[in-house]
Amino acid sequence: MMRKKWVLITGVSSGIGHFLANELCLRGYNVLGTVRQLENEYGLNSDIKLFIMDLSDQNSIKLAFDSIKTFLNEDKLYGLINNAGIAVPGPLVELSIEKFRLQMEVNVFGLFSCTQYAYKLMETNSRIINIGSVSGLIVSPFLGAYSISKYSIEAFSDALRRELRLFGIKVILIEPGPLKTKIWGKSIGVAAQFEGSQFSQFLNNADHIIQKTEQQALDIDAILPSILKALESNNPANRYLIHKNKRLVKLIATLFPSKWLDYLINKNLVYKV
Ligand SMILES: NC(=O)c1ccc[n+]([C@@H]2O[C@H](COP(=O)([O-])OP(=O)(O)OC[C@H]3O[C@@H](n4cnc5c(N)ncnc54)[C@H](OP(=O)(O)O)[C@@H]3O)[C@@H](O)[C@H]2O)c1
Repeated sequence: MMRKKWVLITGVSSGIGHFLANELCLRGYNVLGTVRQLENEYGLNSDIKLFIMDLSDQNSIKLAFDSIKTFLNEDKLYGLINNAGIAVPGPLVELSIEKFRLQMEVNVFGLFSCTQYAYKLMETNSRIINIGSVSGLIVSPFLGAYSISKYSIEAFSDALRRELRLFGIKVILIEPGPLKTKIWGKSIGVAAQFEGSQFSQFLNNADHIIQKTEQQALDIDAILPSILKALESNNPANRYLIHKNKRLVKLIATLFPSKWLDYLINKNLVYKV
């Protein structure tokens, strides 16, 4: 009988990580998940083994991987899904260095360390799946810090893929557009965080833009087919874009003159009732 494959997913307390943990478990994977607190079971399948990990704390990442290594014993890790992430909103010239650092600690340095630790537990044909974003292809104002982190994941994935293919480990980048998860709600109230900002006029519209984006977002299960291809195809694509209008996103990201894009984006910054 074939042994079940071990897949580690970061950030399974909610959203994409939570959804994927339960789905992969149902599909016969052995799922390991990370959470920041073990206070409840988060409505996860009881077969999912949880480890505490805070991506903004390098020591916490090390301790989690010590436990994961002990838990796996002689078994190898088949997949790592670098999913956990945050979006820190705000105008770049007014964003504190601490907030910017947190954005990068979680989305970039944390992901970097997880990859290094997980790699040591992998073997040929294992998969590293990074959850990037359309924000790593097209930048929105007042989400600059988040975009910087997701552009970093684009470059990180390209370099890592070209390095690890030498050892038969596959690196796949998932680029979701808006999906219905809690991440959107977490950015509500940005105007209040930047009271007295010279961008107030625009930040006041942010909640409306966020709510509209969330309403139009795809259901979370739109991510599943790409994840399954990334895990199960013998020859997965380098990147999977998940968006209602993939062609338009690709066109805007690659061929659309950026001066036109600046014009269109700025025109839409002021919400007219
Ligand atoms: N939803 C979208 O539209 C969308 C689009 C493109 C890309 N993405 C990406 O998808 C990934 C998952 O986001 P989501 O939409 O599912 O959001 P979510 O529901 O907010 O989930 C984020 C997950 O990351 C965890 N996390 C946050 N800070 C952490 C930290 N310091 N250390 C460890 N874990 C931490 C959260 O744990 P806590 O519960 O403890 O906070 C949670 O489990 C992110 O990388 C995001 O950038 C999302």
